[in-house]
Amino acid sequence: MSNLADKIKKLKKERQALILVHNYQLPEVQDIADHLGDSLELSRIAAKSDAKVIVFCGVHFMAETASILCPDKKIIMPDAKSGCPMANMITAEDLRELKSRHPKAVVVGYVNTSADVKAELDICCTSTNAVDIVNKLKNAEEIIFIPDKYLADYVSKKTGRVLVSRDGYCPTHVKILPEDIVKSVRKHPQAKVIVHPECTPEVISLADEALSTGKMCKYVRESQAKEFIIGTEVGIIYRLHKDNPTKKFYPATELAICPNMKRNTQEKVLWALEELKEEVKVPDDIRRRAKKSIEKMLEMV
Ligand code: 13P
Ligand code: SF4
Repeated sequence: MSNLADKIKKLKKERQALILVHNYQLPEVQDIADHLGDSLELSRIAAKSDAKVIVFCGVHFMAETASILCPDKKIIMPDAKSGCPMANMITAEDLRELKSRHPKAVVVGYVNTSADVKAELDICCTSTNAVDIVNKLKNAEEIIFIPDKYLADYVSKKTGRVLVSRDGYCPTHVKILPEDIVKSVRKHPQAKVIVHPECTPEVISLADEALSTGKMCKYVRESQAKEFIIGTEVGIIYRLHKDNPTKKFYPATELAICPNMKRNTQEKVLWALEELKEEVKVPDDIRRRAKKSIEKMLEMV
């Protein structure tokens, strides 16, 4: 273990802190994680833990979700500039305007949204449970699904429901092209192709499975296959290798990098623990409304 990692371990104890790390983070950050996971898994762990401080190594909406679920804990981000461009593609005002044009619609929103936007939702969802949630809205006359138009398309195909969406997308996942999958399959014909549902419909149609990052880890662990083509942010491959040393992983493209996920380093985690900064705290009125949409999701799945 590096000198920095030793210091982090020691200080983390003193601060009664827990380090939560998203599956896309740099290897050096994954190596100091108390828990690695997808956006929902990490927030659930934050809510259950009795730590006083949560160091959230992911992007801003994830730390906000933890703050919504556990207002009594101090949630800190080693680099508060780590935003999610997809989450930033819709504001609460945009959503209010969309709602005013579809007053009867049930409003479902991806967890990749700001707390302000979550406060406008009826139900939050993640890529793990979006299909289940929409399937359960049998009586809804109309459904708004924001912000990701590709996730909306995927959910719409799986559920047979027409969804009102917007032009949001993930700039990292659109870098994965259908021709990348075709080339990789030609090179590795035995490999299973697993992609994230934030990929374009053309890419998803070429895959064996479209899965959240948490479900990808489970799928690989339980699969008899020995090789996998991975159509998501490349950071997850470090974890997949570590968890499954005898299996082989090929990124669909090396270009699928989320720069915001790469801002954290061990050094920044240490500073964050030393200074207990940058704190992410959702104001109480927004928090209460946003929490309802998350609780509704947890109730439904
Ligand atoms: P997961 O919840 O599947 O980890 O996805 C988060 C994300 O930002 C994907 O780009
Ligand atoms: Fe946002 Fe895409 Fe980065 Fe995920 S990979 S955090 S959706 S920009």
